[in-house]
Amino acid sequence: MGKPSTSVCNTMQRKRWALMILLVLSVSTIGVILVRSSFDFCSVGGKISSHQFVEEKFRSAPELPNPLGFMKSKLVLLVSHELSLSGGPLLLMELAFLLRGVGAEVVWITNQKPLEADEVIYSLEHKMLDRGVKVISAKGKRAVDTALKADLIVLNTAVAGKWLDAVLKEDVGRVLPKILWWIHEMRGHYFKADLVKHLPFVAGAMIDSHATAEYWKNRTQARLGIKMPKTYVVHLGNSNELMEVAEDSVAKRVLREHVGESLGVRTEDILFGIINSVSRGKGQDLFLRAFYESLEIIKEKKLQVPTMHAVVVGSDMSRQTKFETELRNFVQEKKLENYVHFVNKTLTVAPYVAAIDVLVQNSQARGECFGRITIEAMAFKLPVLGTAAGGTMEIVVNGTTGLLHSAGKEGVMPLAKNIVKMAMQVELRLTMGRKGYERVKEMFLEHHMSHRIASVLREVLQRAKARALR
Ligand SMILES: *[C@@H]1O[C@H](CO)[C@@H](O)[C@H](O)[C@H]1NC(C)=O
Ligand SMILES: *[C@@H]1O[C@H](CO)[C@@H](O)[C@H](O)[C@H]1NC(C)=O
Ligand SMILES: *[C@@H]1O[C@H](CO)[C@@H](O)[C@H](O)[C@H]1NC(C)=O
Repeated sequence: MGKPSTSVCNTMQRKRWALMILLVLSVSTIGVILVRSSFDFCSVGGKISSHQFVEEKFRSAPELPNPLGFMKSKLVLLVSHELSLSGGPLLLMELAFLLRGVGAEVVWITNQKPLEADEVIYSLEHKMLDRGVKVISAKGKRAVDTALKADLIVLNTAVAGKWLDAVLKEDVGRVLPKILWWIHEMRGHYFKADLVKHLPFVAGAMIDSHATAEYWKNRTQARLGIKMPKTYVVHLGNSNELMEVAEDSVAKRVLREHVGESLGVRTEDILFGIINSVSRGKGQDLFLRAFYESLEIIKEKKLQVPTMHAVVVGSDMSRQTKFETELRNFVQEKKLENYVHFVNKTLTVAPYVAAIDVLVQNSQARGECFGRITIEAMAFKLPVLGTAAGGTMEIVVNGTTGLLHSAGKEGVMPLAKNIVKMAMQVELRLTMGRKGYERVKEMFLEHHMSHRIASVLREVLQRAKARALR
């Protein structure tokens, strides 16, 4: 039990919040246990991404015809590169449950598993078994037979490409035409031939944003000389359960008061939050610099604003020590200790989203693949100050649901000015929050995501069938 202490801690914290949320939610939602995580979507493998999934044991039958209904009785094999509380695997689990919900036969394979017992893997596998997902070994005859028999195979993340040759060997060619490859990565080191050389021959690729899809198209061609298969962009959606908390003003107020108290933020203060695992790529350093600059502007111009606070949710002193230390040194040097708060990585971000007034999405370079935390914050009627990069640009409407600034050092002053603007103009802040919420209701709900996924699966199945007949 080397590292479990954090996950035990998380579990306990999660349970406490779940209980709190349960207490304040209406009777109809009893039986729903909220399990929430917020992680870095683009870096797979231990890093976290913005994401949520929910265990519901007593869900009532949906009234509308389910868009995935045609998947009933289909055999679907899901291949995950690993099983952890990171964005990729959790999203694939959501798909597993959606498919189980319409009576598909779902088989799950985890390609990379640690040799020692792992309590997260154990609990996630049991969650799946409880819902009728068959969990089988990544290697061996059963895996190969299932792949050959399956109507559809979903390969999750670029890294999962390793599984193909290693396990299927000479059968790879027979299986490729029924593979849908779901990609969430946007880092250079995934463009390696041994991971993605089969990509051109699969039935389709599904990617979280147009920016990421474009990037894959460019990079596979330029770096590897291969062509992407038919590619579908599928934006993610907020789960029904997250929406329920977001729309429950009592739950929101309780969470807000609780978190405010724990941080030392008063109700009349204004709280800016950045919610991502702490790393240079997520730009917490540049955000803190912008926050400091905004205080300087306010001092210099003698502006009347509420007391401003910043919270950085996603710290982990045990991992990113150098960067974490840099952040804390900066806060100390600028004497911001009473105004900048650090919160450890947590599975339950809903309370923090409920507690803040403005979300800052400061992911650097190519930005987020998608950035699920952005749509979560918008569900809570928060304006977003985001970098003009990646998936953020497909979510945030500049000037309407938030304000965009450029990535890199040149974005620091524009972000500082946007922070001042949010602090000064309450009306603007509230209006942007409301517009963001409307945008979520229009585009980023669970049913939007399942409709989009359903149309992709339908096409991919048709293509696989046509190729099999040839
Ligand atoms: C892809 O390449 C095109 C043309 O070279 C370029 O305009 C575009 O910005 C590139 N997109 C990405 C995401 O790299
Ligand atoms: C946060 O994490 C650090 C190191 O991992 C630990 O020392 C500290 O107690 C944690 N703080 C809280 C409030 O849990
Ligand atoms: C966002 O809109 C503001 C005006 O509302 C504009 O000044 C700024 O340049 C825009 N930023 C981007 C990245 O489009």
